Amino acid sequence: MTQSTWQIPGRIHAAIIMDGNGRWAQARGLPRTAGHRAGARAFERVVECAPGEGIGVLTVYAFSQDNWKRPGDEVRALFRLMEDFLCREVDRCVANGIALRAIGRRDRLPESVVRVLAAAEERTRGGGKLTLRIAVDYSSRDAIAAAAGVACTQDTFSRRLAAAYGEPDPPPDVDLLIRTAGEQRLSDFLLWEAAYAELCFTPVLWPDFGADDLREAVTEYRRRRRTFGGLTASVSLPGRVA
Ligand code: IPE
Ligand code: IPE
Ligand code: MG
Repeated sequence: MTQSTWQIPGRIHAAIIMDGNGRWAQARGLPRTAGHRAGARAFERVVECAPGEGIGVLTVYAFSQDNWKRPGDEVRALFRLMEDFLCREVDRCVANGIALRAIGRRDRLPESVVRVLAAAEERTRGGGKLTLRIAVDYSSRDAIAAAAGVACTQDTFSRRLAAAYGEPDPPPDVDLLIRTAGEQRLSDFLLWEAAYAELCFTPVLWPDFGADDLREAVTEYRRRRRTFGGLTASVSLPGRVA
């Protein structure tokens, strides 16, 4: 499978299901939106330290298709936070070589979010240090169903899936998938790409997640033995940092 636009030799693709914002707020007697604000700060911390941990692609679950089931106020607050992040951080992304992309449906997002997303993607295009993929109004099942119609080989299918995400090439498979807040499920995230991902579940609530937690997860990942269905560890382990 070609990975021409990804440029991550020797670096890993990590994915994070950032869960536990609501519980974080509840434990402090705060509204859920305060948890989401704290979660946005945790997100910024993790993005900053990801390249130093050998991560070349970071895919984060920011808003699932099923999250539309939440109260309108909470959904609006989440999109406001997303828009604030994109407006505030785009210069820093450019300066730090971070290429930003959104995956998922855009037709149901607030117009202002769609606008700043497109502008951020355009401005950060070509960032070679980290590709940051933000899954918004995302459903892995939907993307798979959209790609399935004409697929024949796994390669062709991966290309169709990339097209369904609006990406030019299929991303590398996920090497490490982290979920916070003690939950142990995928919640419709990256079902295809995580086929051989090493799973890391941590009880830490997302707003408390920081550089040390990311390092611990990556260290644990590097200790794992990945055989991809064979009997010996793969010689080309993607996660080894040169
Ligand atoms: C994750 O935190 C953020 C989103 C799903 C948008 P939650 O809001 O799911 O937090 P909990 O699971 O209620 O604690
Ligand atoms: C998954 O978390 C979605 C995101 C983190 C954006 P949820 O909190 O929505 O998932 P469930 O309901 O626990 O499966
Ligand atoms: Mg949750």
